[in-house]
Amino acid sequence: MAGKYTDLHHQAITNPDRFWAKVAEDIHWDKKWDKVLDDINVPIYRWFTGGELNTCFNAVDIHVNSGRADQLALIYESPITGNKKSYTYFDLLQHVSRCAGLLADLGVNKGDRVIIYMPMIPEAVFAMLACARLGAVHSVVFGGFAANELALRIDDARPKLIISASCGIEPGRVVEYKPLLDKAIELANYKPAACLIKQREQHTCQLIPGRDRDWDEAIANANAHECVPVAATDPLYILYTSGTTGQPKGVVRDNGGHAVALKWTMRNIYGVNPGEVYWAASDIGWAVGHSYLVYAPLFNGNTTILFEGKPVGSPDAGVFWHIIAEHGVCTLFTAPTAFRAIKKEDPDGRLVSQYNMAKFRALFLAGERTDPNTLNWAEQKLGVPVIDHWWQTETGWPICANPLGIEKFPVKPGSSTRPVPGWDVKVMDETGNPAATNHIGALVAKLPLPPGSFPTLWNAEQRFRDTYLEEYPGYYKTADAGYIDDDGYVYVMARTDDAINVAGHRLTTGAIEEIIAGHADVAECAVVGVADDLKGQLPVGFLVLYAGVERDADEISSEVVQKVRDEIGPIAAFKTALVVSQLPKTRSGKVLRGTIRKIADGESWKMPATIDNPAILDEITAMLKKVGYT
Ligand code: COA
Ligand code: AMP
Repeated sequence: MAGKYTDLHHQAITNPDRFWAKVAEDIHWDKKWDKVLDDINVPIYRWFTGGELNTCFNAVDIHVNSGRADQLALIYESPITGNKKSYTYFDLLQHVSRCAGLLADLGVNKGDRVIIYMPMIPEAVFAMLACARLGAVHSVVFGGFAANELALRIDDARPKLIISASCGIEPGRVVEYKPLLDKAIELANYKPAACLIKQREQHTCQLIPGRDRDWDEAIANANAHECVPVAATDPLYILYTSGTTGQPKGVVRDNGGHAVALKWTMRNIYGVNPGEVYWAASDIGWAVGHSYLVYAPLFNGNTTILFEGKPVGSPDAGVFWHIIAEHGVCTLFTAPTAFRAIKKEDPDGRLVSQYNMAKFRALFLAGERTDPNTLNWAEQKLGVPVIDHWWQTETGWPICANPLGIEKFPVKPGSSTRPVPGWDVKVMDETGNPAATNHIGALVAKLPLPPGSFPTLWNAEQRFRDTYLEEYPGYYKTADAGYIDDDGYVYVMARTDDAINVAGHRLTTGAIEEIIAGHADVAECAVVGVADDLKGQLPVGFLVLYAGVERDADEISSEVVQKVRDEIGPIAAFKTALVVSQLPKTRSGKVLRGTIRKIADGESWKMPATIDNPAILDEITAMLKKVGYT
């Protein structure tokens, strides 16, 4: 007899209308939908057309109205500043509804965009939910991005308002946000009408009269605002992810499908019941932070944790265990890189044994493939299932997972287990046909994608079609490569585009190359992602200088490193730029990035038959050796 998973997976694929209509009954609708799956504009599908709801109502008000007013909704844990605060659902409603009132006073209406460029403080969560309450569209920009990246997003999203703070805190330094914000607004062609700034005690910034408003002063005079019903298909947020060019892609999330799918995942994938404490140790600037720090746990009536700190050094590699023990966390979701950092500091897991983590029952990892070493270490030290699951900013929730709330499968290290109900995953070979079992190829998902995944890119429907839908008609191209084994387990092995994964963050080498190429002395360049024990991958640049440039190569390398930090931000972790006499190329002029990467990673490699300049590979090998690679 088929198990529960097989049955649900089959139902969701063969009759998505019926499956998701039933799931959608768990959400509060102001007006019921006319159509569950709207396929009038294939291959672009929409969910729950005609329906109306409010995301904030489903995340906050509904729980105050149904007996959870006194339950903790949000716990702010900031070991990096020594602060902590707790908010019940009732408290959260007060903060969010007043914040919505303030935004409305500042002219924000349904459909207007609001950029949120903030550190991990409760006001960032209030701001997201307040936008949702008004039907405004938020776009959170990660604090580790530089002014230039923020400016690109301002020009694309055209926000009426930007909400920011005086500073963020990184180990050993205060990151002043205001100069970055001011510079971004100066760089952008589009100018927001107003900025709302939360002054933090660690640093106070100057406000620009007429444009900037002080959060604390303004909120003191604000009145609560009710929830504004929006169409299920209206955008809830835009979240930018790097593209192959310097222009980031604005992933759009709608209101209806998002609420339906995310609430369902909490019980079915994560196995978490309402009332329990769930923790996603991610920044709100990433998709994980949106889906699993803010929205999904609140839809499900959980207590969620906002963590401002690092897995190590704030104060030590035991901080995760401390928080899990103190708050009775049942499930933690983070990136494998965080665990590699902890393992490096505390290889024997001595700190784990100092805490009573009686309620802790599962660890979920995503953002990159969990290497079997890290998975085994975590499983052994924590004594709970460690679940590698695969998803993308675009999908908003996992494509593949071990769905603990449906059926727990044996863990196979290196695999993100099986496609979650709603996802029909296939592997395509180089001819565009389904690949055989155990054969690596392009991972695709059959259309329609389930609710909650992105319906389009902001202001860029053609780019959406070209990037994701064109190559495999009828399928969504994930741009990941991998294989499916005899038991139906999916193994996600590599990207098929130029994206690299640095500490669980997606960067594209093309975007870094564009910045390096802008240096006056650089004639051409190539960036490759090389393996790193802690961060998974790190970008390394190879530069060819213009003939006649006689300046010191080290000086130019440092300038290039600084340029990437200034224009993308510290999060690019770009620290190595090597000046070489040529780039290795094929006779048709294609840069042999794959060969460079293999040399850097110490993998075996063959001299490509089509190489035009084989001698350069010796020079590159010697340079990589000098800086500690190979
Ligand atoms: N604002 C400003 N700067 C930031 C920042 C922020 N919000 N977040 C990171 N940075 C800076 C860091 O200070 C660092 O700067 P540096 O070059 O001056 O040292 C740089 O960006 C790189 O940051 P990071 O990749 O976080 O590296 P790290 O060495 O500070 O920490 C880890 C390493 C593994 C501990 C850290 O990457 C981590 O906790 N990762 C978890 C991953 C995660 O949450 N992924 C989300 C998907 S689940
Ligand atoms: P992002 O959208 O920034 O979260 O990056 C998504 C990308 O991260 C995916 O396309 C994969 O390349 C990678 N990724 C995320 N989770 C996993 C996983 N569990 N296994 C393998 N790769 C993953």
